[in-house]
Amino acid sequence: MINKRYSIVATIIFAVFLGGMTATAWAKGGDPVAGKDKAALCAGCHGDDGNSLSAEFPRLAGQYESYIVKQVRDFQSGKRANNDTMAGMAAMVASVEDAHDIGAYFSSQKMAKKPLTDADKALAVKGEKLFTEGNPMEGVYACINCHGERGKGKSANISTFPRIGGQHRDYIIKNLTDFRDGRRQNDPAGMMTDIARKLTDDEIKALATYLSAQLP
Ligand code: HEC
Ligand code: HEC
Repeated sequence: MINKRYSIVATIIFAVFLGGMTATAWAKGGDPVAGKDKAALCAGCHGDDGNSLSAEFPRLAGQYESYIVKQVRDFQSGKRANNDTMAGMAAMVASVEDAHDIGAYFSSQKMAKKPLTDADKALAVKGEKLFTEGNPMEGVYACINCHGERGKGKSANISTFPRIGGQHRDYIIKNLTDFRDGRRQNDPAGMMTDIARKLTDDEIKALATYLSAQLP
């Protein structure tokens, strides 16, 4: 049973890899220099260089350009509907080109090394185990397969899977809970929803504690 399930997941991942690569081949990359000015609109919450100070606002520094564009477009279309403030901001991004330029700018910025939260070592170790090994008993496919070593992503060609290592802990907790409870539904093929539904609050906290400590 479990093996069959895993092979289905593997097939989905493979399809997404191919799809992601094709999409990237077609998409024209943004201009980070033009994006810097356009990103002034975003700086108040996400920080000048994408290193937001508050955990309410995700860090965008070093995130894949195409992933940022996808999220902005999902907020615009209402496909991602888990935050009204951000939906209002996305509505102010006038064109797909602007979204690409802003995405290219934040993507070119370095993630700050400053620790985000007090490290709870024991909890982080628990989170690391779940991240790298998953939980075969519950059918939780290991996060590392999609999000890469330490949550640093696979490659810009596979931007379907965002970089999540070094992200704010409370933002990760909120989004995993949003996926689980159906408030966030913009994940391709329901990949994240399927996984988040199998996670307890304690596991989510452990994963987020581990991930937020994965600085550059
Ligand atoms: C007034 C504050 C505010 C401003 C200004 C703002 N955002 Fe956001 N943004 C948010 C919040 C809050 C979230 C988190 C939503 C959630 O709870 O999941 C977010 C999330 C995002 C995400 C999702 C990141 C991820 O990892 O999934 C992207 C991308 C993003 N914002 C881009 C932008 C861009 C581009 C601009 C400028 C055009 C901008 N934001 C301006 C508040 C803001
Ligand atoms: C089968 C592939 C896959 C696996 C396994 C997976 N994820 Fe994801 N994850 C995704 C995709 C795809 C997205 C992007 C959803 C979107 O496009 O909005 C995502 C998004 C996320 C986000 C939101 C990022 C953001 O900035 O908004 C978090 C947090 C996350 N995953 C954590 C995890 C954790 C923790 C695990 C392991 C328990 C995990 N993921 C396992 C595919 C996966």
